[in-house]
Amino acid sequence: MTQELPLDHVVIAGGAGFIGSAFARNYLTWHPNARVTVVDKLTYAGNLENLVPIDDSPRYRFVPADICDYETMAPLIAEADAVVNFAAETHVDRSILDPDVFVRTNVLGVNTLLRAAKEAGVKRFLQVSTDEVYGHVGEGSTPENAPLKPRNPYSASKAGAELLVFSYFTNFGLPVLVTRGENTIGPYQYPEKATPLFITNALEDKPLPIYGQGRAVRHYVYVDDHAAAIDLVLHQGVPGEAYNIGADEEVTTVELATRILDLLGKPHALMQFVPDRPGHDYRYNLDFRKLERLGWRRAYDFSHTLEATVAWYMEHESWWRRIKSGAYREYYERQYGKALARAERK
Ligand code: NAD
Ligand code: DAU
Repeated sequence: MTQELPLDHVVIAGGAGFIGSAFARNYLTWHPNARVTVVDKLTYAGNLENLVPIDDSPRYRFVPADICDYETMAPLIAEADAVVNFAAETHVDRSILDPDVFVRTNVLGVNTLLRAAKEAGVKRFLQVSTDEVYGHVGEGSTPENAPLKPRNPYSASKAGAELLVFSYFTNFGLPVLVTRGENTIGPYQYPEKATPLFITNALEDKPLPIYGQGRAVRHYVYVDDHAAAIDLVLHQGVPGEAYNIGADEEVTTVELATRILDLLGKPHALMQFVPDRPGHDYRYNLDFRKLERLGWRRAYDFSHTLEATVAWYMEHESWWRRIKSGAYREYYERQYGKALARAERK
C-alpha cells in the first residue's frame, strides 16, 4: 500500500491472532516484494488456520516462539527491517480473572522485543496498542496527547508497554511508533469478544450475555481498515509518536446485539442481561484526525463492517465450532455459567 519507506522484511509478532493475521495476509499483497516472518506463541487465541491463505507464499514463514524468549527473538529480529508487535493477552474479562499473564506478555514481552530491536538497529518498531489506555471517556473525544488513565489489568499492561516503548525512543533513539485502535471486528476473531460471541451464540440459538444495562458505548473498526492504518503509520508515521485509529458511529452493546440478531433473523429475546463487568469503561471515543492527516480513510462504515463480519461467521462455521468445542468451554463456564443460569431463572 504505502511505499515511502522500504521495509522488505517485517517480523510480525502475534501474527497468528485476529488483527496480526489480517496484517500479515494484507502485507504480502500491499508490498509485493516484501517478506514477513510471523512469530507467535500460539496461545489459546493464536490459530494457524488464520494464516492458511498465505501458507503457500514463499515470502511468508512462521516461527513458533514466545516474545518473552530473548534467545529466540533476537536472531529473528536481527534479520528484519522492522518489527510490528501484535502479540498480547487481549481480553479484558480474562485480565480481571487472571492478571499475571497480562503483565508477563504485555509488559515483559514488549521489553524483550525492544531490547532485541535496539541491538539489531531496526528501521521501525511499531507497538499495536489500544484506545483502552485512555480509560473511560465521559464526554468528547480523546486526542493522542491526552493522559493515559487505564482502569483494568489489560489496559494497564498495554499502557505500561507504551511507556517502555517511548522510553526506548527517548533514551536509545529507537524509531518507535504506537497505534491506539478502537474495537476491531471482522473475520477470524476469537469468539470471546462481544461481536463474535454474540454472532456465534445467536447462530447456535444460545443467549447473548449483555453486561449491566448494555449501555456501554464502543466504535467498531473493520479489521482490514485497522491493518491498513498500521501499515500507513509504519511507513509514514513520525517516530516517537502515537496515532489513534477510530470510527465515527457510537454503538451501545444493546444496539450491537440487536443489529446482529436482526441480521440473522433471530429473536431479541436471546439477549440476557447479566451482572456488569467490574470497572467497566462505559465509553471510548477517539479523535483520529492525526491519522486522517496521514491519508487514512476507512473503507467500511459500521453497517458494512457488521454485515461483512456476520456473513463471514455464517460462512465459516467449522472455524468457530472447532474453537468453541475445546478449552473455550471451561472459560465460558467460568465467565458466564452462574450469571446466565441466574438470568434464566428470573
Ligand atoms: P488476539 O488475542 O486475537 O491475538 C493475540 C496473538 O498474540 C495470538 O495469536 C497469541 O497466540 C499471541 N501471543 C499471546 N502471547 C504471546 C507471547 N507471549 N508470545 C508470542 N505470541 C503471543 O488479539 P487481537 O485482537 O488480534 O489483538 C492484537 C493486538 O491489537 C493486541 O496487542 C491488542 O492489544 C491490540 N488491539 C486489539 C483490538 C481489538 O479490538 N481486538 C483493538 C485495539 C488494539
Ligand atoms: O477498545 C479496544 C479493545 O476492544 C481492545 O484493546 C481489546 O483487546 C478488545 O478486547 C476490546 O475490548 P472491549 O472490552 O471493548 O471489547 P469486548 O468485545 O470484550 O466488549 C465490548 C463491549 O461489550 C463492552 O462494553 C463490554 C460488552 N460485553 C462484552 C462481552 C464479552 C458484554 O456486554 N457482554 C459480553 O459478553
